[in-house]
Amino acid sequence: MATASFSDTAHDAKRLEGKVVLITGGARGLGECMARMFCKHGAKVVIADIRDQQGLALQDTIGVEFATYVHCDVTKEDDVENVVNIAISKYQKLDIIVNNAAAIDDYRNPSIINNDVSEFERVLRVNLTGPFLVIKHAARVMIPEKKGSIVNVGSVSSSVGGIATHAYTSSKHGLIGLTKNAAADLGKFGIRVNCLSPYFIANDAAKEFFKLDEEGCLNVYSNLKGVHLMEEDVAQAAVYLASDESKYISGHNLAVDGGFTTINPIFGVFSQS
Ligand SMILES: NC(=O)c1ccc[n+]([C@@H]2O[C@H](COP(=O)([O-])OP(=O)(O)OC[C@H]3O[C@@H](n4cnc5c(N)ncnc54)[C@H](O)[C@@H]3O)[C@@H](O)[C@H]2O)c1
Repeated sequence: MATASFSDTAHDAKRLEGKVVLITGGARGLGECMARMFCKHGAKVVIADIRDQQGLALQDTIGVEFATYVHCDVTKEDDVENVVNIAISKYQKLDIIVNNAAAIDDYRNPSIINNDVSEFERVLRVNLTGPFLVIKHAARVMIPEKKGSIVNVGSVSSSVGGIATHAYTSSKHGLIGLTKNAAADLGKFGIRVNCLSPYFIANDAAKEFFKLDEEGCLNVYSNLKGVHLMEEDVAQAAVYLASDESKYISGHNLAVDGGFTTINPIFGVFSQS
């Protein structure tokens, strides 16, 4: 009997066949890329966002049999409860959550003495309270099933300071704490909780934030020379953490950063200065 080669199983298989996935912030950027890739792998995707026009357009492009857009502000518990209920009433289950929605504050005046507390709290509400609410309501429906995979989208700012604003860095560090605690809490129900932490992706959000054009993006430091992180690379890692391929991985922070957060290139025998 012929056996399938590794490349057949890795690239051709639908790795999320039959799974139901909720992706927050899925109307554009990395969330959109993940929604498209998850559907390619056989999942049904519920896209939760506040960008209704883009979300509905994406739902129609992917096809309503595979994707459902729901308006959901992740900072509002009623909205979060509603989107989880819609997923259950439409698909009768919820296997995977991707907490991808995020906000950031203006970095042009980053010193803490100039920071506005209301902006700090706004970012914390979206990036940390949002995932807390989504995990809370997802757990409500995952616990009786005794399984589930929750993927929180962090950042290199989840483990390193000095890259982004105080609010964003604090929120993404907090997300690692929430990941670990939720993994401890929900492990007894067979629910895995992990974090996925990308480096700079040259998408619209990063270009807007760092005020970079295409050429500027190409010049952003990378430990891996000549390699640029794309949304698809992060989405591939999300498929892995979401799928049963990672069935014994929980409480982990998977860095997708080319070594950025584990290497200090400033001083030492491999110094690049
Ligand atoms: N772009 C990068 O370089 C980069 C690097 C590391 C990590 N990340 C992380 O990747 C994730 C996706 O970022 P992106 O680059 O695609 O940014 P993006 O701004 O394109 O996407 C974020 C999405 O979240 C949505 N959103 C914002 N507030 C919301 C709310 N209250 N409720 C629901 N949805 C809300 C936005 O409408 C948007 O669609 C984020 O968690 C971000 O922190 C991005």
